[in-house]
Amino acid sequence: MTEIEDLTLDEAAAELERLAREMAEHDRRYYQDDAPEISDAAYDALRQRNRAIEERFPDLVRPDSPSLKVGTEVSEKFAKITHALPILSLDNAFSDADVEDFAARLRRFLKLGEEAPLAITAEPKIDGLSLSLRYEGGKLVSAATRGDGTTGEDVTRNARTIKDIPGTLKGDAPDVFEVRGEVYMTHADFAAMNERQLAAGKPLFANPRNAAAGSLRQLDSRITKSRPLHFFAYAWGEASVVPGETQTEVVAAIARYGFKVNALMQRFSDVAGLVAHYHAIEEQRSALGYDIDGVVYKVDDLALQKRLGFVSRSPRWAIAHKFAAEQATTVLRDIEIQVGRTGALTPVAKLAPVTVGGVVVSNATLHNADYIKGVGQGGVTLREGRDIRIGDTVIVQRAGDVIPQVVDVLLDKRPADAGPYLFPARCPICDSHAVREDDGVVTRCTGGLICPAQAVERIRHFVSRNAFDIEGLGEKQVEFFFKAEDDALQVRSPADIFTLKERQSRSTLKKLENIDGFGPVSVAKLFAAIEERRTVPLSRFLFALGIRHVGETNAKRFARHYGSLSAFAADAATAVLPVEKKDRGNEAWQAMNDIDGIGGVVAEAVVEFFAEAHNREALAALLDQVTVLDEVAVVDASSPVAGKTVVFTGTLEQMTRDEAKAMAEALGAKVSGSVSKKTDLVVAGPGAGSKLKQATTLGVEVIDEAGWFVRIGRDAAPTQTAAEPPSDQAPGVPAAEADPKDPA
Ligand code: IVH
Repeated sequence: MTEIEDLTLDEAAAELERLAREMAEHDRRYYQDDAPEISDAAYDALRQRNRAIEERFPDLVRPDSPSLKVGTEVSEKFAKITHALPILSLDNAFSDADVEDFAARLRRFLKLGEEAPLAITAEPKIDGLSLSLRYEGGKLVSAATRGDGTTGEDVTRNARTIKDIPGTLKGDAPDVFEVRGEVYMTHADFAAMNERQLAAGKPLFANPRNAAAGSLRQLDSRITKSRPLHFFAYAWGEASVVPGETQTEVVAAIARYGFKVNALMQRFSDVAGLVAHYHAIEEQRSALGYDIDGVVYKVDDLALQKRLGFVSRSPRWAIAHKFAAEQATTVLRDIEIQVGRTGALTPVAKLAPVTVGGVVVSNATLHNADYIKGVGQGGVTLREGRDIRIGDTVIVQRAGDVIPQVVDVLLDKRPADAGPYLFPARCPICDSHAVREDDGVVTRCTGGLICPAQAVERIRHFVSRNAFDIEGLGEKQVEFFFKAEDDALQVRSPADIFTLKERQSRSTLKKLENIDGFGPVSVAKLFAAIEERRTVPLSRFLFALGIRHVGETNAKRFARHYGSLSAFAADAATAVLPVEKKDRGNEAWQAMNDIDGIGGVVAEAVVEFFAEAHNREALAALLDQVTVLDEVAVVDASSPVAGKTVVFTGTLEQMTRDEAKAMAEALGAKVSGSVSKKTDLVVAGPGAGSKLKQATTLGVEVIDEAGWFVRIGRDAAPTQTAAEPPSDQAPGVPAAEADPKDPA
């Protein structure tokens, strides 16, 4: 785009002509079709450009210039209503200083000294569509949209269907009274309505304001009635008697007549109060449940309002203090993949810097691979299926504290050579393969033990209390050793912990005890703590690896089932063959899935871990340093179920499933999750289904829970209420935690 100073007269004329045409088209889409094509911010940018060109070339201002229009012409669909008093627009303030100027202007105009009192109200500027309601003899006679400010559309029938709009005014209302206010839709109603639209295969509304406008401007008022519209009253038009002497009093009267007025309206005596209220409202903005786009200030005293009057189409006695735009249009220069501390691959948009919500944004989240393709949660279509490509012109949103996100793409600006984005299949940090999880949309790096993005978190987990339990390696120390450049100090993988002392003894330069934060005593203690953990029970070892979904409970399940690390690793390595996930199902895979409490999601996480060569290397290096103790179950070989394969199914009432399993195993039984020819005994509680059926088909012995206690010669245990965590989730494992998605 040419800088305005560099435009020639001809170029300026041509551009003003183009802007008038383009903006008229956007106006039509916005006001008449209720289906805008560009963001408010993009529209504002066009308007600003138009105004700046006109300022430099005042002679070129066109009769159809967008700068001369208020609202839009009225649609042909509706009858017209000429407002008894025109509906005006509001001048804007964008900063606290603009508000100071506003107050100073008022005082100058009214010739008020600095000390003279001047009360001003402040209230939210509702982001809906304005509506003027005319009451005669207390009855609603007409309702008109704003239209071009002079003439609006007759939507009386539709307005009557809105619950917040009384058909008859309460109390002693003036004979003729016009109430003005805003029709809007709440966020919750908007979301629910779009879900219904989606289910019915109808187009979605872009935002609550468009949804409200589209709902009010229906030719069939039954449709309007079915839509959840609300109304806030904040002003009045023609009135046979004005019921009060101040803004505050009249709004209170309007509330008495039966209208909702905004509870956040307050009166202040100085600018500091106004501005403080503005910022307080701004803070609550996201929690209000409906959209607002600023705060409106109004001189409270109606006599002063009258003296102040109007400039062009705006009252001199009021101003709208706008919030910074929350959306902006910019170019997507690149997509970078960030790896979170739990290995989640998050695509981050690298943007041409743009101001959104008052700050310069150059990074924004793209959430995940599906989001880029135009697919949302549960497979729903996003952005009418528009995908996002590098080079695209995109709409960025930054609302409140929420991290900036790319919300849409302008297809007509797409470069001809922009191809669909290919989500990487490998981790950009460590080159391990990345897998898309079955249970979600997240693509995750499998190189847990070696991936630098995850290493600090993994090592912290590795040394934590229920894993290797190495004292003296807290968060600070792990960070320090991880970042250390010198080989004598570096700890980048679990094995490095156990070689640290060795490497230290060889180094003459980088002695740990000479480094700030360490001393001879703490170093000696640390090395002693490390040496103490060179032997570790299998269940702790498995938990320490930080395999996704393998928390303490599942680690114990694997340890009990396999007994040794080699048996576990052998099954995991075999189960992954053939490599294609969809083809899994060999004997090793089946055996893993048959472990009581272990399902496909957990088994998949295990085989993916062992499939990654980097992990096998890190594991081998670790096993050079530590000894893993086999899990030896204390079994009672003389029990009546010793050596038997038992399956528990249905609801157990006397014991939890894990208790039952531990009990059976202590009695020398093998517990399986599925019934086969090899099963000896099925213990079935209420609600047992397919496993019970299978047992009957195969002729396997079936007993109930009471029968189980008789069989093992014990009284039933007292009922336990402590529930086990669901097997797919391992509390306390960092790998099971949500990823912080902050790309900033
Ligand atoms: S007072 C002469 N108060 O903003 C002043 N307007 O940009 C009349 N609006 O047309 C308007 N909330 O649609 C006023 N609390 C509020 C408002 C509000 C939203 C809208 C209204 C108006 C537009 C002006």
